[in-house]
Amino acid sequence: MPKHVVRSGDTIKNLAKKYNVSFSNLSLANSHLKNLEQLNPGDVIYIPDTADGTYSLVKSTPLKMQLMSMIGFSPRQIQEHYKIYLTYVNKTNEIRHQLRSLEQSESSSIFSQLGTLKNAEIYTVSNYKLHELYFENLGGKGGPATGSVLEAIVRDFGSYEYWEKDFRATGLAGRGWVIMGYDYDDGHLHNYVLDYQGMLLRIEPLLVLDVHEHAYFLDYGTNCASYIDAFCRNLDWSAVNGRLANLKFAEK
Ligand SMILES: [Fe+2]
Repeated sequence: MPKHVVRSGDTIKNLAKKYNVSFSNLSLANSHLKNLEQLNPGDVIYIPDTADGTYSLVKSTPLKMQLMSMIGFSPRQIQEHYKIYLTYVNKTNEIRHQLRSLEQSESSSIFSQLGTLKNAEIYTVSNYKLHELYFENLGGKGGPATGSVLEAIVRDFGSYEYWEKDFRATGLAGRGWVIMGYDYDDGHLHNYVLDYQGMLLRIEPLLVLDVHEHAYFLDYGTNCASYIDAFCRNLDWSAVNGRLANLKFAEK
């Protein structure tokens, strides 16, 4: 990544203008500096290069305001959880920024900075994306599934009631994520636990439940079952239906 060594009189805003990058992108690329408002001569500023398409910053999705007034979730619980999501976004950008400054020739499967960062990258990317799906499928009216999702659930689980029992039980069995996903290979819906011992391959996540303790501990302590009750009461089936409609095969 191109660098600029700060000279007397340089400011972060002037440098953004000079190198034709946005202030926010320049700030994100230089999060290693404690105070971007007070640059010192000799400081090294990284100039994000988005022109070649190999490095782009992840932008966070704003929190939906209706999540702050859900019955069963305190605003503080949601705010603290959202902060964790933002950390995953920021760490993804930080990791990619550091990867750009490494020598690829020093990569090693036994130990290398590149290997450590590559393993961290897939972890932060998975988590920021799953959190976005989780927050997106919250804030609705709950209740039984609707529309095409209901039809698919009845087709694959026999009844909505059976699916819900299975989904809740899957939630209590997980330590990380619970996903109702569409499997492109067998053409059916399944409720999965994803605790980082595996990956979703050719599976489209349609409904995402976060069962990390940070998702509910402020409101429910260790009572995960009550948290899952609250999640189901605030589920937004329209978001789930939207994802189903966007599948490549898109059943009519
Ligand atoms: Fe979370």
